[in-house]
Amino acid sequence: MPKKELNQWLSPSLQKEVNLLKNLIQEVSNPKIKNLLLFAVAKSCLEASYVSFCPGTTFYPFKEKEEFWDLFTKKVIQIYQDLEKVHRHHHYGKSILINDTCLNAQKYIQPESIDFIITSPPYPNDLEYTRQTRLEMYLLDFVKSMNEVQQIKRKMVKSSTKLIFKESQSESFVQKFTEVQSISEKIYEQTKDKNWGFDYPRMVREYFGDMYLCLQAFFPLLKPQANFLLVVGDQTIKGVYIPVCDILIEMGKEIGYRNCRKELFRIRRSTGHKILLPEEMVVLEK
Ligand SMILES: C[S@@+](CC[C@H](N)C(=O)[O-])C[C@H]1O[C@@H](n2cnc3c(N)ncnc32)[C@H](O)[C@@H]1O
Repeated sequence: MPKKELNQWLSPSLQKEVNLLKNLIQEVSNPKIKNLLLFAVAKSCLEASYVSFCPGTTFYPFKEKEEFWDLFTKKVIQIYQDLEKVHRHHHYGKSILINDTCLNAQKYIQPESIDFIITSPPYPNDLEYTRQTRLEMYLLDFVKSMNEVQQIKRKMVKSSTKLIFKESQSESFVQKFTEVQSISEKIYEQTKDKNWGFDYPRMVREYFGDMYLCLQAFFPLLKPQANFLLVVGDQTIKGVYIPVCDILIEMGKEIGYRNCRKELFRIRRSTGHKILLPEEMVVLEK
């Protein structure tokens, strides 16, 4: 992580402690245990850092935090206890982690092989997820430079204006969805006189373009009658209501999913306005 940015996130003493511990962990010979310990370092370092996600990234250099070593010790004990529970049940099956965008699912998963999908995709809420995980990505050596962070950003669902690049073109896939176009125009009307430099109208089109491509990518991979469940919330941008769930349902139908519906999960209150925002489970059946 560039030194200047790192200083924003971590106090100099915390940086020293973390480096010391990371070096000690390098001596652990079992790679699985080493990785678990590094994972605990990253998580406890984040908790001891200046950062707070609420929901954007905010830094509070003067906020008192729990001691890094205490956090780390608790984390390791928690991981140990969790693993003990997992070991008691042998029916969890094998997990595979695919480190790529969901839009490339067809490269890794056989046609008609999926029984059920459950996911919590991004919402069009302008959250830039690499900001949320940047510290951990650097600490665990997933990225070494801002350029590598940019490569990850280019593959993400465009739920934030900061994830749109010149070459982004997912919006071309949702021209036929009039509701997406009309919401984008309404947001344009709300924002046209303000020079923020952030293109919210385009973000909405790009976001739904990516979600359309995602629903389309998984369709051939699901077994017949398998369900695709997405936990997703409606959103407002600059006062314009975005019925995210209804739009995903409309897209699902257009792709060929059947029995498309939503079930209320909870109602969210926003800090910025009085509109209540439902969070629902969108269910699409192949
Ligand atoms: C609403 S969050 C869900 C977080 C998840 N439930 C968890 O507990 O970690 C949406 C997640 O989608 C991920 N995401 C964004 N673009 C993606 C893409 N193209 N492919 C796969 N995942 C993506 C984000 O990084 C983020 O972790």
